[in-house]
Amino acid sequence: MTEEQNVDVHAALLAAQEASVELNASIEKEPEKHRMLTGDRPTGALHIGHLFGSLQNRVRLQNQGVESFVVIADYQVLTDRSSADGISNNVRELVLDYLAAGLKPDGDGTYIFPHSHVPALNQLLLPFLTLVSMAELGRNPTIKEEIQAAGLKTVNASMFVYPVHQAADILFCNATVVPVGKDQLPHLEISRKIARRFNQAYPGKGPTFRMPHALLSESVMIRGLDGTSKMSKSRNNAVFLRNTEKETTKLLKRAKTDADRNITYDPVKRPEIANLLDIYTLVTGESQQDIAADIGDAGAGTLKLGLAKALNEYLAPMRERRVELENTPGLVEETLRLGVAKANEVARETLNRVLSAMDMAYQIEE
Ligand code: TRP
Repeated sequence: MTEEQNVDVHAALLAAQEASVELNASIEKEPEKHRMLTGDRPTGALHIGHLFGSLQNRVRLQNQGVESFVVIADYQVLTDRSSADGISNNVRELVLDYLAAGLKPDGDGTYIFPHSHVPALNQLLLPFLTLVSMAELGRNPTIKEEIQAAGLKTVNASMFVYPVHQAADILFCNATVVPVGKDQLPHLEISRKIARRFNQAYPGKGPTFRMPHALLSESVMIRGLDGTSKMSKSRNNAVFLRNTEKETTKLLKRAKTDADRNITYDPVKRPEIANLLDIYTLVTGESQQDIAADIGDAGAGTLKLGLAKALNEYLAPMRERRVELENTPGLVEETLRLGVAKANEVARETLNRVLSAMDMAYQIEE
């Protein structure tokens, strides 16, 4: 990233943080005026980074009475891989994690669906592609990072186009609230541009789309157990919701720390220890400084064991629920059936409005 782009990204982050505060206030006052859409790529089970970073935010919005759409972005998985092997199993794991974390997609207010099964949503991609330039797509910093991180030699065109598809995910249901991490802000900017440009280009009988807003999570971003990079499956540094207590303890014992026995909270000089303390704080509500002071020079081993215990206690109800859900026949299928039915209904209605605005709603008699 150039220096200039870095400054842009930082300014966008600050603006989004400020806007998130206002957005939360508006949601609290009038939840029924909002609709949430967010989603994940089905690349495997979810970990505690997802739980604290985004899942809890979604469950909170749902419980505040905001109508909630969660897209399982299955086509998006294909952007950086040549096959979709194992994808149906990943979708299943994802749905179970959502349900265990507290989403209630019972056909009334919360909907979970894979975008591959909502044809009218996908059809929005074609008009949307005409509203952005190749240069705009090529400048997207998140895409550049993804290409680099995946070490791709050849980059397929969907890698550049998927933010436009993501705009279709967001705009088909006229979402106002999009809870995301900061890496998704450039994509959300594209969605907003597309909404604005569509409304301008095709005023029709009034604006077709509402403006979507990013809602950034309030919790700190936790890093993986290596303490340096984002928690992620591919970096092998994650604790998964579906891990057992034993597995969790084992993973934490292997977490990277430093040579200083005395535990202090210093995110700059001691990022690994600080990260463990951040997680500790999230699950106990005690401050990082207090936890560090309690452990003192009992060392990182004591910190890890204490954290393993606290984290396991915190996750226990969710994990128990997950096992129950896993053993409920037909549950995942029924959840997706309800989600897909609603998403199709909403997407068809939006596509009709889009076609009308573009003067393409031909009345064709058969
Ligand atoms: N790009 C998102 C990710 O990689 C997933 C996603 C797809 C998404 N469609 C979305 C997120 C719409 C928010 C809104 O995590």
